[in-house]
Formats: sequence, C-alpha cells, structure tokens
Amino acid sequence: MAKIRDVYEQARKELNPNISAASLRLLMVETNNFKNYADLDHNLEKEQQNEDIFWKMFASLNKGVPVQYIVNNANFLGEDFHVDSRVLIPRPETEELVEQVYRDLLFNYRDEPFTLVDLGTGSGVIAISIAKRFPNAKVYAVDIDYDALKVARFNARRHEVDVQFLIGDMLKPLIQQGVKFDYIISNPPYIGNLEEIEENVFKYEPLIALEAKEGTEFYEKIFADVNEVFDEQVKIYFEIGYDQKKKLTKFVEKLPFQTKFNFSRDLQGKDRYLFVSLKK
Ligand SMILES: C[S@@+](CC[C@H](N)C(=O)[O-])C[C@H]1O[C@@H](n2cnc3c(N)ncnc32)[C@H](O)[C@@H]1O
Repeated sequence: MAKIRDVYEQARKELNPNISAASLRLLMVETNNFKNYADLDHNLEKEQQNEDIFWKMFASLNKGVPVQYIVNNANFLGEDFHVDSRVLIPRPETEELVEQVYRDLLFNYRDEPFTLVDLGTGSGVIAISIAKRFPNAKVYAVDIDYDALKVARFNARRHEVDVQFLIGDMLKPLIQQGVKFDYIISNPPYIGNLEEIEENVFKYEPLIALEAKEGTEFYEKIFADVNEVFDEQVKIYFEIGYDQKKKLTKFVEKLPFQTKFNFSRDLQGKDRYLFVSLKK
C-alpha cells in the first residue's frame, strides 16, 4: 500500500509535459474522495485509495483525456456536475456569464415569478445553477442532442431542481408550446473554424457542442425566432466567440425592435459576452 505522497511524486515524474499539474491534482482529489486540493495537501501521508484504478485513470490522463471526463465530474460555481463525453465540459468563461446573470436578476429582483430559458443546455449547468439560486424562476432548457439532455436531466435530479427540459432546435420547441420568456441565456456552439481549437478539445469533446456555420449561425437563428417567445420585453445573455463582436454588432443593430445592447469581456480581457434587451 503506497502513501498518497509517493503515488503523487511518481505520477508527477511520469506526467506528460502537455498535461497540467492541476489535472493530476484533481485526479488525486477525486480518487481519494477528498473535497478539494487543500484536503489533498493535508492528507499526503495517508494511503492512496484504489491505487490500481488511479494508475488506469492516470494512463488516460497522460493520453490527453480531459480529467473531468475521467472522473465524471466538473465543478461549476462551486457545485459538482456529472460530465462525460456526451457533453461539453463547462468552462470558467461560462461561470462568469452566469455570475453576470445572477447580478442582473438580483438587481431586478421583485420576488415575482419569471421565466427563463437556457438554449443549448449541454450538461445543464447554466439552467440548474439559476434554478437553484432563484426558486421563483420557471426555468426551461433546450438541447438538440438527446444524449446531452440525459446528462442534464441527471444533473437536475442530483441538484433537486425543477427544470423543464425540451429537445429541439433552439427556440423551435418553445414556439410550439407557446411559452414566453423574460430572460434567454445561451452559450451555443460558436466555433467557425475547428482548426483553431486545441487538439484535445477536438478529439474528446462533442463536435455538436462546438461547431457553428460562420461561427454565428446560432445567434442569428435565435434572433430570427425571438419575436415569438416574448410579449413586451426580453433580455438575452450570450456567450460569444472572442472575434465575433463586429459581426454581431452589425446584426443586432438591424433587429426590428427597440434594442439596447452591450458587450463585455472575460477575465482574460477577450470580448466574450453580448447582452441584448429587446422591446416591442
Ligand atoms: C457550447 S455547448 C454549451 C453547453 C452548456 N450550456 C455549457 O455552457 O457548458 C452548446 C450546446 O448546444 C447544443 N446544440 C447544438 N446545436 C443545437 C441546436 N440547433 N439547438 C439546440 N441545442 C443545440 C449542443 O448539443 C451543446 O450541448
């Protein structure tokens, strides 16, 4: 039986230089059932749990499989979500988007019910985080991919929130049901040129979660249908590609509504969010 410290040191020596040390630490946290890195650091003299399983998982990590898929867990705003190869691994940029939505919703908070939809929900992190934080919200979530929706439903049950999941093409299933919204949130696929993305993202994450014609097809699709899903006004929160500001500005300026919009940057200083308020 080896101590965690010895396993860790051995694994660090063997770690592929292209893989981050943080991924290895996360693997050690998860295989020992610790809560976080601090827990790991305080328990280095304990025995490594399930050492055989650890080394099998380590072999996958060294091949480039994202650690979140190996341990079937991703942390999003401090909460755990099941992830596997059926869904995109949620990114820190998307945590920033949801924090922005939290701030706005709290600012406008009237203790009244409101309706909100997350388009392209994937693992469900956006819809579930908001439903958990705002029990007065009626939250919908849409994805075109049946397998992704299975993961999202599983996560909603695990977090004990009520989210209405629908399968379909962006706003289409909601139009069919005649639902109207106060808020729309989406981190849709927005990669126009797949050659730009990292090799391991391309290799392991679902293409359907990444690829968009011309990069902007899904924003355009949502704007084309939005008239049908709101009564007087709606606010839309988008995560966007870092190079899409110019193109989306031209598009939003032509919308047939009273329109206010602004872009904001992520922590890396990239144009990453588009917020649009529409009034009829
Ligand atoms: C970038 S991922 C976002 C996943 C999750 N919301 C997140 O932020 O981590 C985009 C999601 O959109 C879904 N998607 C792709 N095309 C779609 C469409 N036409 N209608 C609805 N969802 C779609 C994909 O299956 C994928 O789950």
